[in-house]
Formats: sequence, C-alpha cells, structure tokens
Amino acid sequence: MFPVSRPRRLRRTAAIREMVRETRLDAGDFVYPLFVRQGRGIKNEISAMPGNYHFSVDTLVEEVGQAAEEGIRSVLLFGLPERKDAVGSEASDDDAAVQSAVRALKKAYPELIVITDVCLCEYTSHGHCGVVDEGRVLNDPTLELLAATALSHARAGADMVAPSDMMDGRVGAIREALDGAGHTEVAILSYAAKYASAFYGPFREAADSAPKFGDRFSYQMDPANSDEALREVGMDLDEGADIVMVKPALAYLDVIRLVKESYSVPLAAYNVSGEYSMLMAAAEKGWIDRERTILEVLTSIKRAGADIILTYHAREAARLLR
Ligand code: PBG
Repeated sequence: MFPVSRPRRLRRTAAIREMVRETRLDAGDFVYPLFVRQGRGIKNEISAMPGNYHFSVDTLVEEVGQAAEEGIRSVLLFGLPERKDAVGSEASDDDAAVQSAVRALKKAYPELIVITDVCLCEYTSHGHCGVVDEGRVLNDPTLELLAATALSHARAGADMVAPSDMMDGRVGAIREALDGAGHTEVAILSYAAKYASAFYGPFREAADSAPKFGDRFSYQMDPANSDEALREVGMDLDEGADIVMVKPALAYLDVIRLVKESYSVPLAAYNVSGEYSMLMAAAEKGWIDRERTILEVLTSIKRAGADIILTYHAREAARLLR
C-alpha cells in the first residue's frame, strides 16, 4: 500500500517502462488485407478506406514487395470479379484475379504467407454469402461452392484459406475437400466468431459486396452474444480449423479474451474496415494523433489475447515499429 508501493517508480523512464512492458507488437503479428482485380497497371484508391487500393496482379506484386521490405510476412487476398452471377461462379475460377494473384505472389516471394478470403458475397449478383432461394440464404448448397472455391485457391498455391461466410459446417466441408485432393498442408483460418457488424461498411464499398436485399443477420452473429462465440469456435476447431478468428476486433475485445482463455489455439482478430476508416477520418481532421492511435489500437487487440492481427494499418504499423 501507498506510500510503500509507488507504481510510478516503474513508469519513470522510457527504459524502465520498456523493461516492464507486458505486450509487444511485432510486424510478424500482422496480416495485410489487399484487394485484387483483373487488368494491368491498376492502383485505384478506395475512397472509404484512404491508403487502400484496388490492385491488378502486377501492381499488387509491387505493393507486397514494399510491404515485405517493411517486415510484413503475410497477406490476405480479396477478389473483385469481372462478372457476378447468382451462385458466384467466378469465386472458384482458376483464372480469376485472386487465383492469379496467389500464383504471382508465391512465385515472387516464396516465403510470404498467402491467405485467401473464401466467401461468395463479392461474386454473387445479390451480394449474399451463399446461395439464395426465395429471399433465404441456403446453408448446405452453399458448402459445395465454398469448398470448390477453397480448392481452387489451394491449387493456385495458397498457404491458408480463410472462410468468412458463416455458413454452418463450412470448415468441415472445406477440410474434407482439401484433404480429398491431397492439399493436406493447406491450413484453415476460420472466421469463427464473425458478428453482423456495422463496422464492415467501408469494406462493402471496397469489395462491392453489400447485400442487395435484407442483411446478414441470418448467418453472421448477433453482436449481443459471447457464449455463442465459444460454441462457434468449438465447432470450427472440431471441424478442423487451424486458427480461429474473432471479427471485428475493437468492439469485441472481451470476446477475444474469452476465446483466448477458453481454448489454447492460435487466435486471430480482424481490425476491420470501419475501425480503420474511423481512425483515419478522425486523424485527417486533426482530432487524434494517427500514429499513436494506431499503435494503441493494435496493442489493445494483442493485449486482449490475439496472436495475429489482420489490419489495414499493417504497413504503417510495421514502419512505426522499426
Ligand atoms: C466477406 C467479408 C466481409 C469482410 C471480410 N470478409 C464483409 C462482410 O461480411 O460483409 C469485412 C472486412 C472489413 O470490414 O474490413 N464476407
């Protein structure tokens, strides 16, 4: 008790603070999400996510090369299709943008960890993450399409596939398809506890994936639930997930902590588009210090229990940590 105890003794100098610091960020913690489309020489800024772009494969390879020099070791790819249809056919097309990007990145940077988002919403004309019938998103018929998409990414050379659709049983369906085709070494990073969140707003502009009718509440989780997150994580692990993820991150730090304390498995958290754009907008207005806020946010996600952080701040954060 005070005056014997004086916590300020250990805050006196930067060196002492560093010595007793409990959480350390490292560029190796980050996964850098990127958007890729067909074409050449394309680098179009996404207006709702300043500093993020739609790349063609050639400019994507350049971007990732620069990121790698800054210490980024892992990327997550989202694709923008040439054509959308009711079943999102282009998602599993071996010659689509994501598949071409995976091949080009693995060729240019064999050590890079290439993760692909597996979902149909960017590819479907209705914008839902599954097959739609009479206004309902069907679960079981969607599983086949997701498995075919994951398989196509594996054929292209992806190190990990990351299903983000929230259909029941998708991790098992994908594991079975991968193993059946001999891709036993391709890992599954499951968006296990993915909430129906308003924080995905800017991403839906970036990926042109907003649902054309209704919302995603019949498949993504209710933001009010955390017991359910543990059940979802448990199911995905039983089905063969190698890494589980909580998404979004900042409004769900309690869920991150809960999952970390309940399961001893690698845990990822997605610092999503809305979290990114809010910070960038406030910084742009001069209301907050961008660099300090980025590091504080990422530190808080790691402190909550995330081992891996998917973040659009990855490059800037890696530079700040040098
Ligand atoms: C696709 C998907 C979404 C995100 C990642 N994968 C959007 C959604 O579910 O509507 C969100 C990423 C972000 O906001 O940064 N299902």
